[in-house]
Amino acid sequence: MSRIFIFDTTLRDGEQAPGFSMQPDDKLRMARALAALRVDVIEAGFAASSPADAQSIMNIAAAIEGPIICSLARATRSDILAAATALAPAARKRAHVFIGTSPLHREAKLSMSRAQVLEAIRSSIAFARDHFEDVEFSAEDAIRTERDYLAETLSVAAAEGATTLNVPDTVGYTTPEEIIDLYRFLDGAVDRRDEVIFSTHCHDDLGMAVANSLAAVRGGARQIECAVNGIGERAGNCALEDVVMALRTRQDFYGADTNIDSTRIITASRTLSQITNAPPPRNKAIVGANAFAHEAGIHQHGVLQNRATYEIMKPEDIGLVTESIVLGKHSGRHALAARARALGVVLEGEQLDRTFTAFKLVADEVGIVDTAKLAALLAEVSTQR
Ligand code: KIV
Ligand code: ZN
Repeated sequence: MSRIFIFDTTLRDGEQAPGFSMQPDDKLRMARALAALRVDVIEAGFAASSPADAQSIMNIAAAIEGPIICSLARATRSDILAAATALAPAARKRAHVFIGTSPLHREAKLSMSRAQVLEAIRSSIAFARDHFEDVEFSAEDAIRTERDYLAETLSVAAAEGATTLNVPDTVGYTTPEEIIDLYRFLDGAVDRRDEVIFSTHCHDDLGMAVANSLAAVRGGARQIECAVNGIGERAGNCALEDVVMALRTRQDFYGADTNIDSTRIITASRTLSQITNAPPPRNKAIVGANAFAHEAGIHQHGVLQNRATYEIMKPEDIGLVTESIVLGKHSGRHALAARARALGVVLEGEQLDRTFTAFKLVADEVGIVDTAKLAALLAEVSTQR
Protein backbone atom coordinates (compact mmCIF):
# COMPACT_ATOMS: atom_id res chain seq x y z
CA MET A 1 0.00 0.00 0.00
CA SER A 2 1.49 3.37 -1.02
CA ARG A 3 1.31 6.23 1.43
CA ILE A 4 -0.14 9.44 -0.02
CA PHE A 5 0.71 12.70 1.73
CA ILE A 6 -2.05 15.27 2.19
CA PHE A 7 -0.95 18.88 1.80
CA ASP A 8 -3.85 21.06 2.89
CA THR A 9 -4.15 24.52 1.37
CA THR A 10 -7.50 25.59 2.86
CA LEU A 11 -5.75 28.45 4.67
CA ARG A 12 -3.80 29.67 1.62
CA ASP A 13 -5.32 28.86 -1.81
CA GLY A 14 -8.73 28.36 -0.15
CA GLU A 15 -8.62 31.52 1.88
CA GLN A 16 -7.46 33.69 -1.04
CA ALA A 17 -10.71 33.02 -2.97
CA PRO A 18 -13.54 35.58 -2.77
CA GLY A 19 -15.97 34.88 0.08
CA PHE A 20 -13.57 32.68 2.05
CA SER A 21 -11.26 35.13 3.79
CA MET A 22 -10.63 34.41 7.47
CA GLN A 23 -9.50 36.34 10.52
CA PRO A 24 -6.29 35.20 12.27
CA ASP A 25 -8.20 33.59 15.18
CA ASP A 26 -10.41 31.70 12.75
CA LYS A 27 -7.37 30.49 10.81
CA LEU A 28 -5.91 29.13 14.03
CA ARG A 29 -9.20 27.39 14.85
CA MET A 30 -9.24 25.84 11.37
CA ALA A 31 -5.59 24.80 11.72
CA ARG A 32 -6.53 22.88 14.88
CA ALA A 33 -9.26 21.05 12.94
CA LEU A 34 -6.70 20.22 10.22
CA ALA A 35 -4.21 18.90 12.77
CA ALA A 36 -6.98 16.71 14.27
CA LEU A 37 -7.62 15.37 10.75
CA ARG A 38 -3.91 14.45 10.67
CA VAL A 39 -3.05 16.24 7.43
CA ASP A 40 0.67 15.98 6.67
CA VAL A 41 1.21 19.62 5.71
CA ILE A 42 -0.77 22.76 6.55
CA GLU A 43 -0.11 25.58 4.10
CA ALA A 44 -0.93 28.31 6.59
CA GLY A 45 -0.71 31.28 4.21
CA PHE A 46 1.52 33.44 2.07
CA ALA A 47 3.74 35.34 4.50
CA ALA A 48 4.83 38.08 2.08
CA SER A 49 1.27 38.85 1.00
CA SER A 50 0.33 40.88 4.11
CA PRO A 51 1.42 41.48 7.72
CA ALA A 52 -1.85 39.85 8.89
CA ASP A 53 -1.12 36.70 6.89
CA ALA A 54 2.43 36.59 8.26
CA GLN A 55 1.06 36.93 11.81
CA SER A 56 -1.48 34.16 11.20
CA ILE A 57 1.25 31.83 9.97
CA MET A 58 3.32 32.65 13.03
CA ASN A 59 0.37 31.95 15.38
CA ILE A 60 -0.25 28.60 13.71
CA ALA A 61 3.48 27.76 13.68
CA ALA A 62 3.63 28.42 17.44
CA ALA A 63 0.46 26.55 18.41
CA ILE A 64 0.11 23.53 16.13
CA GLU A 65 2.04 20.32 16.66
CA GLY A 66 2.16 17.38 14.30
CA PRO A 67 1.79 18.59 10.71
CA ILE A 68 4.52 20.44 8.82
CA ILE A 69 3.58 24.14 8.67
CA CYS A 70 4.24 25.79 5.33
CA SER A 71 4.21 29.25 3.75
CA LEU A 72 3.98 30.08 0.08
CA ALA A 73 6.72 32.31 -1.36
CA ARG A 74 7.47 33.70 -4.82
CA ALA A 75 10.93 32.86 -6.14
CA THR A 76 12.49 35.91 -4.49
CA ARG A 77 14.75 36.39 -1.51
CA SER A 78 12.37 38.79 0.25
CA ASP A 79 9.43 36.34 0.03
CA ILE A 80 11.56 33.46 1.28
CA LEU A 81 12.84 35.56 4.19
CA ALA A 82 9.24 36.57 5.07
CA ALA A 83 8.32 32.86 5.10
CA ALA A 84 11.34 32.03 7.30
CA THR A 85 10.42 34.74 9.83
CA ALA A 86 6.76 33.73 10.00
CA LEU A 87 7.63 30.04 10.35
CA ALA A 88 10.36 30.51 12.96
CA PRO A 89 8.30 29.06 15.85
CA ALA A 90 7.33 25.88 13.92
CA ALA A 91 8.77 22.54 14.99
CA ARG A 92 8.47 21.27 11.41
CA LYS A 93 8.41 23.79 8.57
CA ARG A 94 8.47 24.02 4.79
CA ALA A 95 9.01 26.81 2.26
CA HIS A 96 6.83 26.48 -0.84
CA VAL A 97 8.52 28.42 -3.63
CA PHE A 98 6.74 28.97 -6.95
CA ILE A 99 7.20 30.66 -10.30
CA GLY A 100 5.16 30.56 -13.52
CA THR A 101 6.75 28.31 -16.13
CA SER A 102 4.25 28.22 -19.04
CA PRO A 103 4.80 30.45 -22.10
CA LEU A 104 1.82 32.58 -21.05
CA HIS A 105 3.14 33.13 -17.56
CA ARG A 106 6.72 33.71 -18.71
CA GLU A 107 5.80 36.17 -21.43
CA ALA A 108 2.58 37.91 -20.32
CA LYS A 109 3.06 37.93 -16.55
CA LEU A 110 6.77 37.76 -15.78
CA SER A 111 8.37 39.11 -18.98
CA MET A 112 11.12 36.55 -18.51
CA SER A 113 12.85 34.22 -20.95
CA ARG A 114 13.08 30.48 -20.37
CA ALA A 115 16.68 30.89 -19.23
CA GLN A 116 15.76 33.67 -16.80
CA VAL A 117 13.03 31.53 -15.23
CA LEU A 118 15.50 28.64 -14.85
CA GLU A 119 17.98 30.97 -13.16
CA ALA A 120 15.27 32.33 -10.81
CA ILE A 121 14.45 28.74 -9.82
CA ARG A 122 18.10 27.86 -9.29
CA SER A 123 18.90 30.88 -7.13
CA SER A 124 15.64 30.92 -5.13
CA ILE A 125 15.71 27.22 -4.28
CA ALA A 126 19.37 27.47 -3.25
CA PHE A 127 18.51 30.50 -1.07
CA ALA A 128 15.49 28.70 0.40
CA ARG A 129 17.68 25.73 1.28
CA ASP A 130 19.93 28.08 3.30
CA HIS A 131 16.91 28.74 5.53
CA PHE A 132 14.86 25.53 5.32
CA GLU A 133 15.62 21.82 5.24
CA ASP A 134 12.28 21.15 3.61
CA VAL A 135 11.65 23.05 0.35
CA GLU A 136 8.87 22.47 -2.16
CA PHE A 137 9.00 23.88 -5.67
CA SER A 138 5.89 24.57 -7.77
CA ALA A 139 6.02 25.18 -11.52
CA GLU A 140 2.92 27.37 -11.72
CA ASP A 141 0.74 26.53 -14.76
CA ALA A 142 2.80 23.37 -15.23
CA ILE A 143 0.06 21.74 -17.29
CA ARG A 144 0.39 24.40 -20.03
CA THR A 145 4.20 24.34 -19.92
CA GLU A 146 6.23 22.65 -22.69
CA ARG A 147 6.94 19.15 -21.35
CA ASP A 148 10.71 19.11 -21.88
CA TYR A 149 11.06 22.57 -20.38
CA LEU A 150 8.86 21.56 -17.41
CA ALA A 151 11.15 18.59 -16.77
CA GLU A 152 14.13 20.97 -16.93
CA THR A 153 12.61 23.37 -14.35
CA LEU A 154 11.86 20.48 -11.98
CA SER A 155 15.35 19.02 -12.47
CA VAL A 156 16.96 22.38 -11.62
CA ALA A 157 14.81 22.65 -8.47
CA ALA A 158 15.76 19.10 -7.45
CA ALA A 159 19.46 19.75 -8.10
CA GLU A 160 19.31 22.75 -5.74
CA GLY A 161 17.72 20.66 -2.98
CA ALA A 162 13.92 20.89 -3.40
CA THR A 163 12.48 17.62 -2.11
CA THR A 164 8.87 18.04 -3.24
CA LEU A 165 8.16 18.92 -6.86
CA ASN A 166 4.64 20.17 -7.49
CA VAL A 167 3.02 20.14 -10.92
CA PRO A 168 0.00 22.45 -10.59
CA ASP A 169 -2.96 22.51 -12.91
CA THR A 170 -3.33 26.18 -12.05
CA VAL A 171 -6.32 26.81 -14.32
CA GLY A 172 -8.07 23.43 -14.06
CA TYR A 173 -7.39 22.62 -17.72
CA THR A 174 -6.14 19.04 -17.70
CA THR A 175 -7.94 15.70 -17.93
CA PRO A 176 -7.33 12.41 -16.09
CA GLU A 177 -5.84 10.73 -19.18
CA GLU A 178 -3.51 13.64 -19.90
CA ILE A 179 -2.26 14.03 -16.33
CA ILE A 180 -1.41 10.32 -15.92
CA ASP A 181 0.61 10.56 -19.10
CA LEU A 182 2.37 13.71 -17.90
CA TYR A 183 3.46 12.16 -14.57
CA ARG A 184 4.67 9.05 -16.35
CA PHE A 185 6.70 11.25 -18.68
CA LEU A 186 8.15 13.26 -15.75
CA ASP A 187 9.00 10.04 -13.96
CA GLY A 188 11.51 9.27 -16.67
CA ALA A 189 12.58 12.83 -17.49
CA VAL A 190 13.30 14.54 -14.16
CA ASP A 191 16.82 14.19 -12.70
CA ARG A 192 17.18 12.88 -9.12
CA ARG A 193 13.71 11.32 -9.40
CA ASP A 194 14.49 8.94 -6.52
CA GLU A 195 15.22 11.80 -4.13
CA VAL A 196 11.99 13.73 -4.64
CA ILE A 197 8.26 13.37 -4.16
CA PHE A 198 6.00 14.43 -7.01
CA SER A 199 2.97 16.43 -5.91
CA THR A 200 -0.32 17.31 -7.61
CA HIS A 201 -2.33 20.52 -7.21
CA CYS A 202 -5.51 20.57 -9.28
CA HIS A 203 -8.13 23.28 -9.70
CA ASP A 204 -11.75 22.51 -10.48
CA ASP A 205 -12.57 24.80 -13.42
CA LEU A 206 -13.86 21.87 -15.51
CA GLY A 207 -15.08 19.89 -12.46
CA MET A 208 -12.21 17.40 -12.70
CA ALA A 209 -9.91 18.40 -9.81
CA VAL A 210 -10.58 15.26 -7.77
CA ALA A 211 -10.46 12.92 -10.79
CA ASN A 212 -7.25 14.58 -11.99
CA SER A 213 -5.61 14.32 -8.55
CA LEU A 214 -6.47 10.62 -8.38
CA ALA A 215 -5.13 10.14 -11.91
CA ALA A 216 -1.92 11.91 -10.87
CA VAL A 217 -1.57 9.33 -8.09
CA ARG A 218 -1.92 6.59 -10.71
CA GLY A 219 0.85 8.34 -12.62
CA GLY A 220 3.22 8.42 -9.62
CA ALA A 221 2.32 11.52 -7.52
CA ARG A 222 2.70 10.90 -3.79
CA GLN A 223 1.43 14.23 -2.43
CA ILE A 224 -2.03 15.67 -3.09
CA GLU A 225 -2.69 19.36 -2.52
CA CYS A 226 -6.31 19.98 -1.59
CA ALA A 227 -8.70 22.06 0.50
CA VAL A 228 -11.59 21.26 2.82
CA ASN A 229 -14.98 21.62 1.06
CA GLY A 230 -12.95 22.14 -2.15
CA ILE A 231 -12.59 25.89 -1.59
CA GLY A 232 -9.96 27.79 -3.57
CA GLU A 233 -9.36 30.13 -6.48
CA ARG A 234 -12.33 30.37 -8.91
CA ALA A 235 -14.09 26.94 -8.95
CA GLY A 236 -11.83 25.80 -6.11
CA ASN A 237 -9.18 23.21 -5.37
CA CYS A 238 -9.40 19.44 -5.20
CA ALA A 239 -11.74 18.69 -2.25
CA LEU A 240 -9.81 17.04 0.59
CA GLU A 241 -12.74 14.95 1.79
CA ASP A 242 -13.47 13.59 -1.71
CA VAL A 243 -9.94 12.55 -2.53
CA VAL A 244 -9.32 11.04 0.91
CA MET A 245 -12.54 9.00 0.87
CA ALA A 246 -12.03 7.96 -2.76
CA LEU A 247 -8.60 6.53 -1.90
CA ARG A 248 -9.94 4.83 1.23
CA THR A 249 -13.10 3.44 -0.34
CA ARG A 250 -11.29 2.26 -3.48
CA GLN A 251 -8.04 0.95 -1.95
CA ASP A 252 -8.65 -2.14 -4.05
CA PHE A 253 -8.12 0.01 -7.16
CA TYR A 254 -5.57 2.62 -6.08
CA GLY A 255 -3.49 0.51 -3.65
CA ALA A 256 -2.85 3.75 -1.77
CA ASP A 257 -4.08 5.49 1.37
CA THR A 258 -3.50 8.59 3.48
CA ASN A 259 -2.94 9.02 7.20
CA ILE A 260 -6.13 11.09 7.56
CA ASP A 261 -8.45 10.36 10.49
CA SER A 262 -11.59 10.36 8.37
CA THR A 263 -13.87 10.51 11.43
CA ARG A 264 -12.76 14.15 11.78
CA ILE A 265 -13.89 15.13 8.27
CA ILE A 266 -17.36 16.38 9.15
CA THR A 267 -16.03 18.52 12.02
CA ALA A 268 -13.40 20.09 9.75
CA SER A 269 -16.00 20.76 7.07
CA ARG A 270 -18.46 22.32 9.50
CA THR A 271 -15.78 24.36 11.24
CA LEU A 272 -14.86 25.88 7.88
CA SER A 273 -18.52 26.46 6.94
CA GLN A 274 -19.11 28.24 10.24
CA ILE A 275 -16.02 30.42 9.88
CA THR A 276 -16.73 31.40 6.27
CA ASN A 277 -20.52 31.35 6.56
CA ALA A 278 -20.56 29.22 3.42
CA PRO A 279 -21.90 25.67 3.80
CA PRO A 280 -21.16 23.29 0.92
CA PRO A 281 -24.06 22.60 -1.50
CA ARG A 282 -26.57 20.00 -0.20
CA ASN A 283 -25.48 17.52 -2.87
CA LYS A 284 -21.71 18.00 -2.31
CA ALA A 285 -19.98 14.61 -2.12
CA ILE A 286 -19.08 13.37 1.40
CA VAL A 287 -19.98 16.51 3.39
CA GLY A 288 -23.17 17.86 1.74
CA ALA A 289 -26.36 17.59 3.79
CA ASN A 290 -27.74 14.99 1.35
CA ALA A 291 -24.56 12.90 1.05
CA PHE A 292 -25.84 10.20 3.40
CA ALA A 293 -29.57 11.03 3.34
CA HIS A 294 -32.13 8.67 1.86
CA GLU A 295 -35.66 9.84 1.22
CA ALA A 296 -36.97 7.72 -1.65
CA GLY A 297 -39.02 4.79 -0.35
CA ILE A 298 -37.21 2.10 -2.36
CA HIS A 299 -33.82 3.39 -1.20
CA GLN A 300 -34.98 3.62 2.42
CA HIS A 301 -36.25 0.06 2.33
CA GLY A 302 -32.93 -1.15 0.93
CA VAL A 303 -30.87 0.79 3.46
CA LEU A 304 -32.98 -0.45 6.35
CA GLN A 305 -32.35 -4.06 5.25
CA ASN A 306 -28.66 -3.57 4.48
CA ARG A 307 -27.00 -0.16 4.27
CA ALA A 308 -24.59 -1.32 1.59
CA THR A 309 -27.48 -1.39 -0.92
CA TYR A 310 -27.27 2.39 -1.36
CA GLU A 311 -24.22 3.44 0.70
CA ILE A 312 -20.60 2.86 -0.32
CA MET A 313 -19.31 4.51 2.87
CA LYS A 314 -20.72 4.63 6.38
CA PRO A 315 -21.75 8.04 7.75
CA GLU A 316 -19.71 7.26 10.87
CA ASP A 317 -16.57 6.87 8.70
CA ILE A 318 -16.60 10.65 8.27
CA GLY A 319 -17.78 11.30 11.85
CA LEU A 320 -21.46 11.77 11.05
CA VAL A 321 -23.76 10.45 13.75
CA THR A 322 -27.10 11.92 12.70
CA GLU A 323 -30.04 9.94 11.36
CA SER A 324 -29.51 9.22 7.66
CA ILE A 325 -33.10 8.24 6.88
CA VAL A 326 -35.00 11.39 5.96
CA LEU A 327 -38.76 11.07 6.20
CA GLY A 328 -40.49 12.94 3.40
CA LYS A 329 -43.19 12.49 0.79
CA HIS A 330 -41.11 9.88 -1.07
CA SER A 331 -40.61 7.68 2.00
CA GLY A 332 -42.21 4.29 2.40
CA ARG A 333 -43.81 2.36 5.26
CA HIS A 334 -40.61 0.50 6.18
CA ALA A 335 -38.84 3.77 6.93
CA LEU A 336 -41.80 5.16 8.83
CA ALA A 337 -42.11 1.99 10.92
CA ALA A 338 -38.35 1.98 11.65
CA ARG A 339 -38.30 5.62 12.74
CA ALA A 340 -41.41 5.12 14.88
CA ARG A 341 -39.76 2.10 16.47
CA ALA A 342 -36.75 4.26 17.32
CA LEU A 343 -39.19 6.56 19.15
CA GLY A 344 -40.63 3.57 21.06
CA VAL A 345 -43.82 3.12 18.95
CA VAL A 346 -44.39 -0.21 17.23
CA LEU A 347 -46.59 0.24 14.14
CA GLU A 348 -48.16 -2.82 12.56
CA GLY A 349 -51.13 -3.81 10.42
CA GLU A 350 -54.04 -1.42 10.39
CA GLN A 351 -52.31 1.01 12.74
CA LEU A 352 -49.37 1.27 10.34
CA ASP A 353 -51.80 1.91 7.45
CA ARG A 354 -53.56 4.73 9.28
CA THR A 355 -50.33 6.32 10.44
CA PHE A 356 -48.84 6.06 6.96
CA THR A 357 -51.86 7.85 5.41
CA ALA A 358 -51.61 10.64 7.99
CA PHE A 359 -47.83 10.82 7.50
CA LYS A 360 -48.18 11.33 3.72
CA LEU A 361 -50.56 14.26 4.28
CA VAL A 362 -48.10 15.92 6.66
CA ALA A 363 -45.14 15.22 4.36
CA ASP A 364 -46.98 16.81 1.41
CA GLU A 365 -47.53 19.88 3.55
CA VAL A 366 -44.14 20.31 5.29
CA GLY A 367 -41.65 18.45 3.08
CA ILE A 368 -39.35 16.83 5.64
CA VAL A 369 -40.96 15.19 8.67
CA ASP A 370 -38.35 15.61 11.39
CA THR A 371 -38.31 13.80 14.73
CA ALA A 372 -40.47 16.42 16.49
CA LYS A 373 -43.12 16.36 13.76
CA LEU A 374 -43.10 12.57 13.67
CA ALA A 375 -43.55 12.38 17.44
CA ALA A 376 -46.53 14.79 17.22
CA LEU A 377 -48.03 12.75 14.38
CA LEU A 378 -47.68 9.47 16.30
CA ALA A 379 -49.31 11.04 19.35
CA GLU A 380 -52.20 12.37 17.25
CA VAL A 381 -52.85 9.09 15.44
CA SER A 382 -52.77 7.14 18.70
CA THR A 383 -55.54 9.36 20.19
CA GLN A 384 -57.76 8.62 17.16
CA ARG A 385 -57.93 4.92 17.99
O1 KIV B 1 -2.64 26.96 -8.56
C1 KIV B 1 -1.42 27.16 -8.42
O2 KIV B 1 -0.63 27.08 -9.36
C2 KIV B 1 -0.95 27.52 -7.09
C3 KIV B 1 0.52 27.52 -6.91
C4 KIV B 1 0.97 28.75 -6.22
C5 KIV B 1 0.95 26.27 -6.23
O3 KIV B 1 -1.74 27.70 -6.19
ZN1 ZN C 1 -3.72 26.83 -6.72
